[in-house]
Amino acid sequence: MPPTVPVTPLDPVPGLAGSGAGAGAAVLELQDVRVWFPLSRDWRGRAVRHAHALNGVTLQVRRGEAFGIVGESGCGKSTLAAVLMNLVRPTEGELRRLPRADGRPSDVQIVFQDPQSSLDPRLPAWRVIIEPLVAAGGQASGKADLRKRADALALQVGLRPEHLDRYVHEFSGGQRQRIAIARALAPSPDVIVLDEPTSALDISVQAQILNLLRELRRAHGLTYVLISHNVSVVRHLCDRVAVMYLGQVVEQGPAAWVLQAPRHPYTRELLDAVPRLDRPWPEAPLAEPAELPGNVVLPQGCFFRSRCPWATAGCERPQALLARPDAPLHAYRCHVMARASH
Ligand SMILES: Nc1ncnc2c1ncn2[C@@H]1O[C@H](COP(=O)(O)OP(=O)(O)OP(=O)(O)O)[C@@H](O)[C@H]1O
Ligand SMILES: [Mg+2]
Repeated sequence: MPPTVPVTPLDPVPGLAGSGAGAGAAVLELQDVRVWFPLSRDWRGRAVRHAHALNGVTLQVRRGEAFGIVGESGCGKSTLAAVLMNLVRPTEGELRRLPRADGRPSDVQIVFQDPQSSLDPRLPAWRVIIEPLVAAGGQASGKADLRKRADALALQVGLRPEHLDRYVHEFSGGQRQRIAIARALAPSPDVIVLDEPTSALDISVQAQILNLLRELRRAHGLTYVLISHNVSVVRHLCDRVAVMYLGQVVEQGPAAWVLQAPRHPYTRELLDAVPRLDRPWPEAPLAEPAELPGNVVLPQGCFFRSRCPWATAGCERPQALLARPDAPLHAYRCHVMARASH
């Protein structure tokens, strides 16, 4: 007998902060994207085992919004970022970068978790910052103009232009991440993908970088795809959020709804894992299932079934991502919770 399903009453208040309302037209679209990495091959060279990193992801990023992607380690977040950057081609499905008003395809830049390894150590910081402009043919602007542009970007991210002759390793972790952000801003991209932008930083610096990202977005109307395993980071910055489990989006919607009144059992588990002062710690560690499902042999039906306290026989069927009839912006992949809510 499964435990009774506690469904938090939901109150979709118009204009609720984080409702996702007011964002512009789609700028990036993923249509049923699958990415499978070959792990071993037979004697003919055919892949026989795969890591199924993404298993049918459909989502839209709209101009001007901060879209959060949250989920545990290995659920496919960075693979999704690589697809958005055109660094990894979908095994199946499609990425569409919608054209700008001037007809050119949308530009996407990325900030990685570890600026130490993602920034070129052989260049002075000002050259690192304008590298994407140079790569796009900006060399024609001349060195003085490029330096001026780097100085202006440095000021925007709270760095002192006179320090830009230093090399990346001469800066602190937080300053390095500011360089990475300036670099991402340089070509005025349509979307900036932030892949765990604060997880490699000290806790005090994390808040500074998050605030900087928020300020930059407010000042310039930037569009973010923010990837994090940390729910608090997503809560701090995002209008909409997608929760990923085993390469699938299991819940998606306005951040305020998904993170305050989650419907999918996995989202609830993820949020319960965040320490909260108003809730006592459990006396004994919670029992882990004998074996967590991996992504080499995918589970049948609902991927979360073996970990789910509410699983029933119906969960052996694949679960579609269904919009809530009373709040169609909010969708989740669980028929048990859907039945309990109506
Ligand atoms: N190049 C690759 N070759 C084989 N498997 C890969 C490759 N890249 C990713 N994977 C596998 O795909 C799955 C998803 O990895 P991914 O890095 O996207 O997860 P993630 O959500 O970003 O994790 P983390 O939070 O630890 O960064 C993992 O099982 C990973 O081992
Ligand atoms: Mg990752």
